[in-house]
Amino acid sequence: MQEERAHWTSNVGFVLAATGSAIGLGNLWKFPFITWENNGGAFVLVYLLCIAGVGLPIMMAELLIGRKTQKSVVGALKDAVGPAWGYVGAWGVLCGFILLSYYTVIAGWSLYYFARTVGWMAGGLPAGTSLGDLFGAQSANAPLQLTLSLGFSLATVAIVYLGVQRGIERIARLFLPILFGILLLLLVSSFAMSGSGEAIGFIFRPSFSELTPESVLEALGHSFFTLSLGMGAMVTYGSYIARHQSIVKASAMIVLLDTLIALIATVIMFTVIFTAGMQDQVGETGTVGMLFIALPQLFFQEGVVPFGSLLAPLFYVLVALAALTSTISLLEVVTSYVIDEKGIGRHKATFLCGGAVFVFTIFAALSFGSTPGLSTIELFSGKAGWFNTADHFVSNWMLPTGGFAITLAAGWFMTRDATESELVDGTEPGWFRYNVWRIFIRYVAPAAVGAIIISVAFGRDFS
Ligand code: PHE
Repeated sequence: MQEERAHWTSNVGFVLAATGSAIGLGNLWKFPFITWENNGGAFVLVYLLCIAGVGLPIMMAELLIGRKTQKSVVGALKDAVGPAWGYVGAWGVLCGFILLSYYTVIAGWSLYYFARTVGWMAGGLPAGTSLGDLFGAQSANAPLQLTLSLGFSLATVAIVYLGVQRGIERIARLFLPILFGILLLLLVSSFAMSGSGEAIGFIFRPSFSELTPESVLEALGHSFFTLSLGMGAMVTYGSYIARHQSIVKASAMIVLLDTLIALIATVIMFTVIFTAGMQDQVGETGTVGMLFIALPQLFFQEGVVPFGSLLAPLFYVLVALAALTSTISLLEVVTSYVIDEKGIGRHKATFLCGGAVFVFTIFAALSFGSTPGLSTIELFSGKAGWFNTADHFVSNWMLPTGGFAITLAAGWFMTRDATESELVDGTEPGWFRYNVWRIFIRYVAPAAVGAIIISVAFGRDFS
């Protein structure tokens, strides 16, 4: 028997759930690091343009396809465009599967660093601790990695198991305010540090001579990852929107909040780094280094972060909460596909999908030196192990191609009436706004995303 489709209980609940999906490791792990690599300023400005000109129109497109069809991504694209588009939907489900398989590993690290920083609260960092060595040792410890990622996967499964209202929406309502609160507290305390002015200058003062074509494409590519676009998460969440809830305002809100949080997180992290005068060392520790090597050390270093030993565990709670509201959206894409298309009940489907993803999480968790065979396999050159392979494939290939397909679906294949009836709800003069959206979804977004795909095909690498 087909159960009636669940809906968000309110607009606020929906916006929080979707914002929870968007805010995640992309904001706390990827964005600060790529801003660093690309010398801030001009890169941040370009990123804002990409979010507004490409991210926002695609966000609206995904949500409208979901709300219109009331189906998860495969069924939604079939209904909205045509049967062959089911394959595009399946590409999205596969992307969610692969992304989730490694995302929980980094999320698991936040649990580890939470536990360690709580342990150091009383006595400080034990003398002679090298955080670089600690990071290497924990990531190469197979039983530890498996336990952490299993713990995180089980939490994700438990929430998706409870469903749209009692699971996903409730967790978002509970966790997002906590997340905003912690971030605000960290921001306020960063203003008390001497490096805050320099950090803000680095992030917001554009110097266009530093901008390269690569950094423009990297900003664009990242806007997919950070907004959870290009793989059907927003189509799926859109399918739980009731008729009377507005997509346009909600999209603007989600995009705004995600961007704000990325910028605030970056200000906080850079302030800590500049205050400690650690600029030179940060780049050397690679993408994960900023979050798990530089920051934990600086939180406990004398004279850098006021009340650092108290704020450090809070910071890792923040990372864990942000990651969890994203992992549930990833699992929901896969699970809702199985529920809608295979007619399996939610409880069984959640376990099946969560279990299948975890098989690949095992490979990701063992990618960091614990298991030589697994950490050295190279499908793409320079990307050893499942973790790096998956991140490379998702960020470079899957999200941009999926996003490109969405622009074609909403801009070119669906009729004008079909999209206009979703975006203009009669209560407001939406004609102008609708036409602006249409120009962006038909021309601007596909041209920009097309440029990413072409440059990746010619060997560029954004992850
Ligand atoms: N937006 C999430 C982040 O920034 C990642 C994500 C991508 C989640 C795609 C769901 C779907 O971390």
